[in-house]
Amino acid sequence: MADDVPPVFDVCVVGSANLDLVATVERLPGAGETVPGTSYAEYPGGKGLNQAVAAARAGASVAFVGALGSDAAGDVLRGVMADDGIDASHVATASVATGRALIGVSSAGENSIIVVAGANGTVTGEELPASKVLLVQLEVPLAAVELALATARASGAVTVLNPAPAAALGADILQWCDIVVPNQHEVELLGGVAHLLALGARAVVVTLGADGAALHTAEGVTHIDPFDVTPVDTTGAGDTFSGSLCARLAAGDVLPDALRFASAAGALCTTKAGAVPSIPHRADVEALLSGG
Ligand code: RIB
Repeated sequence: MADDVPPVFDVCVVGSANLDLVATVERLPGAGETVPGTSYAEYPGGKGLNQAVAAARAGASVAFVGALGSDAAGDVLRGVMADDGIDASHVATASVATGRALIGVSSAGENSIIVVAGANGTVTGEELPASKVLLVQLEVPLAAVELALATARASGAVTVLNPAPAAALGADILQWCDIVVPNQHEVELLGGVAHLLALGARAVVVTLGADGAALHTAEGVTHIDPFDVTPVDTTGAGDTFSGSLCARLAAGDVLPDALRFASAAGALCTTKAGAVPSIPHRADVEALLSGG
């Protein structure tokens, strides 16, 4: 009988999976400008898949809910999930192509990204595996984001929203979020920290890039210190932060401890090229946390 009981995952991520087409450049082009590229590579990515991989590498059991095309890129991304032990039984095969991200990375490690949603645009969030923590971002339809958050909240899971890429959202979505993890630009678009707390979030974590992060609760603000690393490519660092945070929350950490782990993981992610290939494993994060 026990075999019939569905598992409760530590973390369920509902979101996007992309093949990232990455060109490195001395500096990113402005509008109407052409600049020479210095290298080209393809990496697995997508905010949702990056977050799922980060949670898995931090030690969580993870289920991913998303959609891929019936194509070679989809096969690559399914392989990533298998390699990282991520449950893909809720990954649909869509009749449109796997999502693509066209990414430019400058010699300073900054990026600019164009995302073509493809199969990600078909994600509905209708069927969710049970989990302790649900994590969503905004590269799938907003209706799917809202449904996933509301369903997970009703099941008793902790609901976490990383509102990226930046978008203005209403109370229809924000009311279901226990924890919101925006960057400075995103939190402004959402109406500010006080607004998010008033809508019911118990914590708002504003990521500050090289300056660390700020944890806002009804009790006040706690600053999470950054880690001193030399960035090569910041792609996926925010996703790594969010995914690692959820893994540590599922493991029972209090927020400040979970955020310190997430901050270290995000910093390590910037030290290597690509999204999924640069996401660190738990042992590497713990080494940085202990000063190794
Ligand atoms: O956050 C980084 C991700 O954004 C990339 O992996 C790319 O796929 C885009 O979705």
